[in-house]
Amino acid sequence: MWNRRDWMMGTAALASAAAAQSGPKTISISSANGLRATARAVEWMKQGKDTLDAVIAGVNINEEDPEDDSVGYGGLPNEEGIVELDASVMHGPSRRAGSVASVRNIKYPSRLAKLVMEQTDHIMLVGEGALRFAKAFGMREENLLTERSRLAWLTWKQSQRDAGGHNNWTDGLDAPPKAAAAALRNVFPGVTDELLAYAWDRAAHPVTGTINCLALNARGEMSGVTTTSGLSWKIPGRVGDSPIVGAGLYVDQEVGAAGSTGRGEENIRVAGAHTIIENMRHGMEPKDAVLDCLKRVARNYGNDLKRLEKFDINFYCLRKDGAYAGAALWNGRQRRTGFTSAQFAVNDGGQSRLEKCVFLHERK
Ligand code: GLY
Repeated sequence: MWNRRDWMMGTAALASAAAAQSGPKTISISSANGLRATARAVEWMKQGKDTLDAVIAGVNINEEDPEDDSVGYGGLPNEEGIVELDASVMHGPSRRAGSVASVRNIKYPSRLAKLVMEQTDHIMLVGEGALRFAKAFGMREENLLTERSRLAWLTWKQSQRDAGGHNNWTDGLDAPPKAAAAALRNVFPGVTDELLAYAWDRAAHPVTGTINCLALNARGEMSGVTTTSGLSWKIPGRVGDSPIVGAGLYVDQEVGAAGSTGRGEENIRVAGAHTIIENMRHGMEPKDAVLDCLKRVARNYGNDLKRLEKFDINFYCLRKDGAYAGAALWNGRQRRTGFTSAQFAVNDGGQSRLEKCVFLHERK
């Protein structure tokens, strides 16, 4: 027979078991290019690994993938044909952050950002200093420009014209007719029509791809990472939002995590990730928090759709209790990804899936 004390203890045990069940779930969300990243992040967290190590391991897939031309190796270069990378990390439990910007020849800037967090008394290193720091910690210098990216860059160079319609980087006055069209085929023997079409598309539509990946484990710990090759054909030294703590990424262990992809200049002007966290801190649901941030971006253009139409920007957020949202300025064809609707990746165990973003406007 249970006495009153047994009953109370049993009830308490049941309550705590229920709380454990309804407690935080293990989940990772990311930009749409993160199906594999979120799967790996969740796998790592289920193995008991730290949330920051998990998201970094996730985005390393994109950083080393030559087909993802918005991140790491194979990322589209600056206007001089040199790949320059930005990344930031935030670790919820320790409330620490690290970031690197405009760093060349280092394939995994997310790992470098974590090194800055752990091995320095600073938060952010840039350019030559970041590269020297990476080498001091044994990171190898690598050429990050693939043949595919070099083709896209040369196509962009050749697509430029001065006021007289001339470009020194394409066939000269003395060239036979139609020489320009054949010229790149001579430099890249075996190039397919599909690859040339890709190069022309990238030349015409500079990309601001990126991957942002956020995670929560069953203990309620959170972390995030954002890593990118930034705006293609940028002026050397241009830094976007990705390495800016509070813009491209923010994690507050007591509230949640947020990040962004797309045109970094717009995000920096609204301190997007931090704004979203503050919105949630003051009680907004994740969807409302990210939409509010997009409205701030639109407000900076007086809601002029003709100017807003020229770029994409997306926000992602994961609340401490596992609720989440993705939001896009535009639904419809995304300039960067070519996806027909704005989406983001989610993994909460099993297979990753794409979910639809809430959005502010519809692109026809
Ligand atoms: N969001 C990436 C960039 O603008 O560089």
